[in-house]
Formats: sequence, C-alpha cells, structure tokens
Amino acid sequence: MSELIERYQREFTDIFAAKSAYCFWKGRVALYAILKAMGVRAGDEVILPGYTCVMDVNPVKYLGARPVYVDIEPATFNININLLKEKITPSTKAIIAQHTYGYPCDMDAIMNIADKNNISVIEDCCLAFGSKYKGRIVGTFGKAAYFSFQWNKPYTTGLGGMVLTNDSELAENIESLCDKQLRKPSKKEVLMLAAQLAIYRALIYPRTTALAQMVFRYLTKKGVVVGSSSTCEFEPTMAPDFFKAASSIQAFSGLRQLKKIEQNIAHRRKMAELYDRLLAEKGWPVRQYDATIMEPVMVRCPVRIAEKDRALAEAAKAGIELGSWFECPLHPVETPLAAYDYQIGMCPEAEKACDEVVNLPLHPRANEKTARRTVEFINRFTKVI
Ligand SMILES: Cc1ncc(COP(=O)(O)O)c(C=O)c1O
Repeated sequence: MSELIERYQREFTDIFAAKSAYCFWKGRVALYAILKAMGVRAGDEVILPGYTCVMDVNPVKYLGARPVYVDIEPATFNININLLKEKITPSTKAIIAQHTYGYPCDMDAIMNIADKNNISVIEDCCLAFGSKYKGRIVGTFGKAAYFSFQWNKPYTTGLGGMVLTNDSELAENIESLCDKQLRKPSKKEVLMLAAQLAIYRALIYPRTTALAQMVFRYLTKKGVVVGSSSTCEFEPTMAPDFFKAASSIQAFSGLRQLKKIEQNIAHRRKMAELYDRLLAEKGWPVRQYDATIMEPVMVRCPVRIAEKDRALAEAAKAGIELGSWFECPLHPVETPLAAYDYQIGMCPEAEKACDEVVNLPLHPRANEKTARRTVEFINRFTKVI
C-alpha cells in the first residue's frame, strides 16, 4: 500500500477519532467490503431505505442476500423507524442507515432495534460528512460506516470510497479480504481519473454543471471517460474487476480535501441557512428537523416542486444547477427495479419524493449569488406544501 494511502486513511480516522479506515476505488466497493467481511451471504436480508442509489443495493445482491426496502419519513428522507421494526425477521443481518442529504438518521432508535435483534448497523455517510446526532458525528454509531467521494459528494476525489470502523474483528476481516482479493485500478483508469479531476477543478462551476453533466454522460457511454457507473452496474451481477483499490491520486486529492474540511462544512451550513431564509421569504417550505437533536451538514438542499421535470429541463438551459436525486426509489430511472426486488408501491413516501424533490447546490463553488439566482428560478414553479 502506498504511503499516501496509509496517510489518507490515518488522517480520515483521526477526524472521527475512530480505530480504522480503508479507502477504495468507489463508495460501493467500500460497502461491499463491509458486507463481505461481516459474512453476509445467500439467505440473509439487508434492510435499506427505498430511497437510495442502486449502487448501494448492488453489493447486497452480489453476495446473494435479499435487499428489503423501508419507506422514508417525508421531512428528513430517512428510514421510517416504525416501518423498520416491521421488516425485521430472523434473516435480517444488517440495517443500512443512510443519512440522506445530510440529515442524520434517528440513531438511538435504529441502534436500539438492532441491538435487541442482534443485527449490525452500517451507516451510509455518502451524503453526510460531519453531520451530528445528539452531538456525536455520524459514522461512529454503527458497526461500520462508509463514505463516497464521487463528483456530487461532500468532497470529491473524482471517484472514491472509505470504510470507517471501530470494530477490530471487522477490521481484521476487511484487511484479510483486501490481501486476498483487492485488485489495483489499471494505469489507464488512474490517468483518466487524474485528467478528469483537473478538468473538473478548472471548468465546473454552478453555471456550467448541467452542460458538463450532459457531456460527461455522453463520453461515459462512449467509454472515453471513467464514469461513476458502467453499464454492467445496472444489473445485480458483479463485474470481475469490481473490488478495486483506491489509487494514490485519489489519496493525494483526499488529503488536500481533508485539510479544507472545516471550511467546507462551515460553508455548507451557511449556504443551507441562506436557502432557508431566501425560500422562507418567498413563502416556500424550508428544512424541517429537530435542531435540539440534529446538526445536519447538508450535501445539497432538497426542495419539493410540482413540475419537477419541466424545472430540471429549464434549469439546464438557463445554467442553473438544479440536481435530482433520487429519481426513482433505486436511482437512476434506468434501474430494472424487479431485478432488485423492488415493486412500485412498496415505499409510497419515497416514490412521492422521487417525483417532487429537486436539490440546490451548497458546495464550495456555490455562493450567495448562486443561491439567490437558484431561488429566483425555482420561485417560477409551484411549491409542494
Ligand atoms: C447514498 C449513496 N450511497 C452510496 C453511493 C455509492 O457511492 P459511489 O458512487 O462512490 O460508489 C451513492 C451514489 O453515488 C449514494 O448516493
């Protein structure tokens, strides 16, 4: 392992005062490592919110386990605790607690259910770096947590993932798994990722994001760039080169991002508060959460809008950075839901959110002007109360 990767893992661990961290090529690879090291296998059930990315479900399917979906709370988009209780069976091996958009899950309730039933909790912190629940940082509650550093995440290394754990046995199992099975990314993949990162840093700003995303998706299909997901990842069968290590370039970029993490978090908090104020001034609903329990660090600011498709199309033309996740319960819309054991109607609140929610940029390149333009833009559409 390179010295850079070791340093990145060590510095990441320090931020959380945790015992071990392991970085990977992508977040989904990190989740796979956790599940495999926990011994998840055919016949097991893994609980997830029905408002997620299909790449989160793939590792469950790769291991032959069954994903079980739980509907969400409409305010925080996180797993509904009462419904979660109903889904526990003797086969439940793990609960994936996804801290959606940055809102922490109700960790006391989840840990309580898990402990009573001897189930492991894995925190999905891909959208929540630095959020706190009852004063404690998310990622430190469950048996393990994982993070993503893909383009849209709290910070980006182009692609990238990290496991965080305080569990010594799990850490040993992950190390032994990596020793035996982890592959290195090819030189071509690493060079392409490095070039993409340089282009991203030079060219991607809120006004150019929509255009850049269109070009990026086109080039990914043509195989010219390293996409976040390849075509074979829309099927629940694992590609031979899936279980891949992080490159030193990702570690180098991650270390740079960690140096700026406090400013990044402070900026996200300030921007989210600004959106709350600007949206409230126009009579739009704002974020609803119990501030005595949660200190969310949002990755994007979710807003419900009646004409979502039209708003997204017009935003792209107008150079407004309007995001859209999740577009279906197992994002993106191309996902063959039946192959992932999801039937429409299983999670009505999640499906409603998919139809209504757009998200607004909070990242370090978005500023007050971005927020004002974005709110002016969405105010031309109909709010959902
Ligand atoms: C909530 C969530 N978890 C996990 C992932 C997977 O992360 P990665 O793209 O790094 O594999 C995603 C997708 O980007 C996501 O949105």
